[in-house]
Amino acid sequence: MTPHDILDDLGSVIFDEAVAARTGMDRIRIRGGRRLSGAIQIGGAKNAALPLMAASLLTDEALVLFRAPRLADIETLAILLRQHGVVVDMNGTGKECALTLRAADIHNTEAPYDLVRKMRASALVLGPLVARCGRARVSLPGGCAIGTRPVDLHINGLRSLGAEIELDNGYIEARAPKGLVGAEIVFPFVSVGATENLLMAACLARGETRLVNAAREPEIVDLAQCLVAMGAKIDGAGEHTILIQGVDRLHGAKHRIIADRIEAGSFAIAVGMAGGSVELTGIELDLMGVAADRLRDAGLTIEPTAGGIRVACEPGGITGIDVMTEPYPGFPTDLQAQMMALLSVAQGASMVTETIFENRFMHVPELCRMGANINLHGASAMIRGVPRLTGAPVMATDLRASMGLVLAGLAAEGETLINRIYHLDRGYERLEEKLAGCGADIERIGADGT
Ligand code: EPZ
Repeated sequence: MTPHDILDDLGSVIFDEAVAARTGMDRIRIRGGRRLSGAIQIGGAKNAALPLMAASLLTDEALVLFRAPRLADIETLAILLRQHGVVVDMNGTGKECALTLRAADIHNTEAPYDLVRKMRASALVLGPLVARCGRARVSLPGGCAIGTRPVDLHINGLRSLGAEIELDNGYIEARAPKGLVGAEIVFPFVSVGATENLLMAACLARGETRLVNAAREPEIVDLAQCLVAMGAKIDGAGEHTILIQGVDRLHGAKHRIIADRIEAGSFAIAVGMAGGSVELTGIELDLMGVAADRLRDAGLTIEPTAGGIRVACEPGGITGIDVMTEPYPGFPTDLQAQMMALLSVAQGASMVTETIFENRFMHVPELCRMGANINLHGASAMIRGVPRLTGAPVMATDLRASMGLVLAGLAAEGETLINRIYHLDRGYERLEEKLAGCGADIERIGADGT
């Protein structure tokens, strides 16, 4: 049973520890060597949906988000928002889910550790709460498998907007009793979350705010478009500098979440691993950015279709290339693990360099257990392609590393058993259903083997 089956049974009952406990011990079993064919529907972007949900705190009117992905991370943020007083309804109609959020009355401005620790993106309620309510007490997120991931840029940016902030017993105590005042904020390095938090806060600050060296991801542009639909005045989203003219209040809006470019990239790599031809529907080629170019360099064919993009690859048709992760428009760090799986079965050698996170190579030991030839040298991994991988029991450690292992299983000879797949449920909706629908021999099995 997947978390979504349980959620369907229990309506939109919140995804909680009990659900995770029952499904978190689930495993995924893959028997490799099956070519893929058919079509996969790409869902709404997790990393757009999360900040958009936090934006609901900025108004007392309803915000409706279409094409919301049914994922554990979305449920986790829904829990957090509900305890602030936001009414959150998920209306799943078939494959699409509409989220309606209304923060008419925020009766609690504290985001507790036991919720924030589950998902770093919970810190995105900080800016909206301070902007709307003049105060917030948000737990520091703590580190995670891929790095320490502090929020100093979020905090310093809010201080620039006039908030008084103290760190107290692992919590961020923020006060702005007279409201926020626009300012120029220059980020010392690019941060997606800090850009989003301060973009939202600046919408209700008095005067003009300039965010310099802002993140340029498509998810930032999507957030800005929704905020403008809510009455915000924003120019330059997606560029180096974003200009925001503060307004007194924001109103409700309806917004369709952009497609998930990381989900699409992950499935494109699945075709590269298994061979075959698959249409990814609901995604535009432009949204794939440089990831599409690098996948073509590695040997995939990727062409636009009327409903999306078609990805094709001959088995064994992958060539080794060098890849470096960078902030958008560079190669996305969220595709690094998946790309490494692909390059582990390429002809020739590759070098993958991770410049965003300090510990995002957790998938390497597991890929090596499947026969990959990878050596780490600091922030770079030297990969020598092998003719084939062999199936093995492996451990998922974080969301994207887990997907890398699923992809390796598609190409491996024999059976791969992936444990701790709750990591996958955080970011991939109906993963095994989508891949099985294209011919993969993949199934979710309970802890008791059923
Ligand atoms: C977002 O995380 C994404 N998450 C991540 O996707 C993605 O990997 C990351 O951006 C980079 O693209 C969501 O959008 C929910 P950052 P975020 O702030 O905002 C350091 C996935 O798999 N930093 O751009 O947390 C930080 O430690 C997830 O879907 C500070 O030092 O990333 C990291 O090394 C994983 N201080 C680097 O900057 C700060 O105040 C980039 O982080 C903020 C960040």
